[in-house]
Amino acid sequence: HLSVKERIDKKRKAALIGGGQKRIDAQHKRGKLTARERVELLLDPDSFVETDMFVEHRCSDFGMEQDRNKFPGDSVVTGRGRINGRLVYVFSQDFTVFGGSLSGAHAQKICKIMDQAMTVGAPVIGLNDSGGARIQEGVESLAGYADIFLRNVMASGVVPQISLIMGPCAGGAVYSPALTDFTFMVKDTSYLFITGPDVVKSVTNEDVTQEELGGAKTHTSVSGVAHHAFENDVEALLNLREFFNFLPLSNQDPAPIQGVDRLVPSLDTIVPFESTKAYDMLDIIQAIVDEREFFEIMPNYAKNIVVGFARMNGRTVGIVGNQPKVASGCLDINSSVKGARFVRFCDAFNIPIITFVDVPGFLPGTAQEYGGIIRHGAKLLFAFAEATVPKITIITRKAYGGAYDVMSSKHLRGDVNYAWPSAEVAVMGAKGAVQIIFRGKDNQAEAEAEYVEKFANPFPAAVRGFVDDIIEPSTTRRKICRDLDVLASKKQVNPWKKHANIPL
Ligand code: COA
Repeated sequence: HLSVKERIDKKRKAALIGGGQKRIDAQHKRGKLTARERVELLLDPDSFVETDMFVEHRCSDFGMEQDRNKFPGDSVVTGRGRINGRLVYVFSQDFTVFGGSLSGAHAQKICKIMDQAMTVGAPVIGLNDSGGARIQEGVESLAGYADIFLRNVMASGVVPQISLIMGPCAGGAVYSPALTDFTFMVKDTSYLFITGPDVVKSVTNEDVTQEELGGAKTHTSVSGVAHHAFENDVEALLNLREFFNFLPLSNQDPAPIQGVDRLVPSLDTIVPFESTKAYDMLDIIQAIVDEREFFEIMPNYAKNIVVGFARMNGRTVGIVGNQPKVASGCLDINSSVKGARFVRFCDAFNIPIITFVDVPGFLPGTAQEYGGIIRHGAKLLFAFAEATVPKITIITRKAYGGAYDVMSSKHLRGDVNYAWPSAEVAVMGAKGAVQIIFRGKDNQAEAEAEYVEKFANPFPAAVRGFVDDIIEPSTTRRKICRDLDVLASKKQVNPWKKHANIPL
């Protein structure tokens, strides 16, 4: 007979090796770390405080009640820890125990740390690696998913939630990551799909591999389900630590401040003189932000808009920019949704938004109209309009048509709106405009020259106060930093409502 102390030690030891050395070796052989190794790498050394190490599943069907089918802690490791000294709650699914599948007990452990995170106001990071619902438990497992989904929804906009997919994540399991703010994936070893390739084959007769159906490349470049992909577990976890530094702990917590005033002379010549020539908005963003450090979200999806986090004098900011390099920076369905979701995250967590505008309009065509560009474009408009965080906008070149209004214009409560000398705020470009208003007339060239003289410059907007100033590009960084200092005490509230009805 073992003493209680011996039994405690035995259980703790058992919890630490999860499903056993053989399965750990199999996990490593696939290039994956174990659930505990991942937690160690993600958190500051010795900061992890584990909860529920003794929890076991309660299933008694299919021989599950036998000792050999019980694993202390079951198939998930949960607790809290610190990332660069800042509090975070973590769960890490353990693929070595029943394939990381979700039992009632597993779900209960996740719910417990989500509840604690909400109570104290700290982010939740989920490391997903799971074969889905625990088949032996049936509906108990499905109830567990729903308990997590409800908490994901309640926590949305209260504490940041991040999912890192590090293995399979299929069926109902996908909806928890989908409800979180950011979904990151590991290349080649992670998959997200509603139904796997076999079911796809039997229902639609399509032949598709796991990787094609739900791998990192698919979700970061085609579906827009995931926001970033990393090479392997180690790179993913280290990048997650960097990413975490940009985030506030909750909607009651100011974004972290880590402070460098400087002029940026290269910006004075960055926008090409020729108005139809492309340039890279990323060059402008990197030149303006601290240390050229820009954490881009969805860099391979809807590349005509650029979104991500950076710092200005140490203060976290969200950056949105049209990308003239891709589709001339036109807004379309995917870029509108990408931008809208990002703007809403920033607004929910008090992160100021800096918007760089060079937009020739919305992308024309049947594909866009049939796809509903009107309601999707409205999302971006809605997001900028409802946002009450500090909003600073810089028009670098084109700001045409409805897209001018949408891109954090003065009219949507922009706090500070600047135009560079290269800015053109107009209903459309000179050629198109002249073709419409001077249709059939022969003095087209003359009319075009008049239009350019009148509209293809920052003055029409500046004389009306639609931009606050026309500034030298090299002074942009300094001005934004000073504006952010002033706007730090900004207070603005929207009318009371149960919730708004954003056009979905
Ligand atoms: N419930 C219970 N146990 C599960 C499980 C589940 N949903 N998924 C995997 N397991 C167990 C397996 O029985 C196996 O146990 P063992 O180590 O004792 O042999 C272990 O987890 C590893 O699974 P295995 O199938 O050997 O791993 P794999 O890497 O070859 O395949 C999956 C991984 C996830 C693709 C595969 O296990 C799978 O298809 N699982 C079912 C997925 C599913 O349909 N879930 C329900 C949808 S909500």
